[in-house]
Amino acid sequence: MTRYRRYFLISWRCSMMCIFLIGSICFLGIYLFFIPKTFNYFAVLAKIKVKENIDLSLMERSAFPAKEYDKPETAKKTISFRSNVSSFKQFLLNRKVGGLTVNAAPFASELNYIQSFRFVINERDICNEITPFLILLIATKADEKQHREAIRKTWGNESVVPGIKVVRLFMLGVNSKEQNEALLRESSQYHDIIQQDFLDTYKNLTLKTIMGLKWVATYCGGANFVMKTDSDVFVNTEYLIQRLLRPLMPPPQYYFTGYLLRNGQPHRNNESKWYMPKEVYSAERYPDFCSGTGYVLSGTLASKIVNASLKVKYIYLEDIYVALCLKQEGIDMVPPPKNDLFNLYKVPFSPCTYNRLITSHGIYPNEQITYWETLQSNKYVCGK
Ligand SMILES: *[C@@H]1O[C@H](CO)[C@@H](O)[C@H](O)[C@H]1NC(C)=O
Ligand SMILES: *[C@@H]1O[C@H](CO)[C@@H](O)[C@H](O)[C@H]1NC(C)=O
Ligand SMILES: *[C@@H]1O[C@H](CO)[C@@H](O)[C@H](O)[C@H]1NC(C)=O
Ligand SMILES: *[C@@H]1O[C@H](CO)[C@@H](O)[C@H](O)[C@H]1NC(C)=O
Ligand SMILES: *[C@@H]1O[C@H](CO)[C@@H](O)[C@H](O)[C@H]1NC(C)=O
Repeated sequence: MTRYRRYFLISWRCSMMCIFLIGSICFLGIYLFFIPKTFNYFAVLAKIKVKENIDLSLMERSAFPAKEYDKPETAKKTISFRSNVSSFKQFLLNRKVGGLTVNAAPFASELNYIQSFRFVINERDICNEITPFLILLIATKADEKQHREAIRKTWGNESVVPGIKVVRLFMLGVNSKEQNEALLRESSQYHDIIQQDFLDTYKNLTLKTIMGLKWVATYCGGANFVMKTDSDVFVNTEYLIQRLLRPLMPPPQYYFTGYLLRNGQPHRNNESKWYMPKEVYSAERYPDFCSGTGYVLSGTLASKIVNASLKVKYIYLEDIYVALCLKQEGIDMVPPPKNDLFNLYKVPFSPCTYNRLITSHGIYPNEQITYWETLQSNKYVCGK
């Protein structure tokens, strides 16, 4: 009996040890296997968090179905993982960094980040039938419906110049679910809204501009000219088309103009609205750039800028970012033919000044309407 028992005990101890050993090995294996998955999971969670605000019906209209959101990046990384040890390291690193900090673009490097967003509201077919002379890209926010209404009725009217095809597109990021539902309704009424799934904030303005340029490059590459402007800007589209752009035809390949700012210095004071830390942009001067309140470029440049954005580090000042992209491509901006065409500030209204300018900044929706109407009725009084 005792012998039997001892035998049993030894065997019991042995099996315990074996089980413990096997268990440890299994645990270690599973742990190692799941670490990357866990980061992956956080990353996906972060993405979903951004997307949660978006109505599902919105997603169905997107250029890429929501489910395919991850595919391109993951596939690319897997290939490099097989072919190259150092990129495997990079792969793990990117996962960590992405999952924990860069949230919405977990697998992308910092540069791919800029183009990692997807259209939620899109207008893919506008240019199937027509090749626009001018595309107006207007940065706006969800709560600026009044601004959009005013622009539609005034300088953003697509038939502003008979016989010239103009396309108007408002650019937005995402906000709350309610706002997105309202936007969707507005979009189905006017078909002049494009939206991607980044948060609509001031510091994300560069994403908005690149979205617009990407839309042009992808869906409307043949457009002659593109203008990027804001919802609080008055744009004399008629003057722009007749006096500045038509005389340029056929469109120059690399044309870029606007209110040209030279030798700009980064604001190093952290209380400035345009604060730019040295760590983000180290040079003492900005490149020459055209104020984001209104710049005009040839359609072919859109694709150039979008491609360059894969090589240029993100900064939130969109006009300077675009200038950095152009610099990367070795393209110079040109000053406008006259100095007072593009204006940074609000030009006091008079029909005969607004008749001969292209932009004036800081305009309220009701002013858009009165200025435009006055201009229409005084069209021929001031001469040209
Ligand atoms: C591996 O990838 C790294 C970074 O992606 C690259 O610099 C290196 O040339 C690659 N090596 C080989 C053998 O492909
Ligand atoms: C746009 O302009 C055309 C032609 O002048 C006009 O018939 C139309 O009503 C305008 N659209 C809006 C929304 O004001
Ligand atoms: C920009 O958008 C991304 C994606 O939605 C968001 O995670 C990020 O917080 C936004 N950045 C800023 C500064 O608002
Ligand atoms: C701005 O910079 C000052 C001095 O460099 C520092 O004391 C302050 O905390 C900073 N403020 C912010 C909001 O970062
Ligand atoms: C931008 O990149 C795309 C894809 O690589 C290419 O097809 C296109 O020709 C490029 N555009 C320009 C202007 O180089």
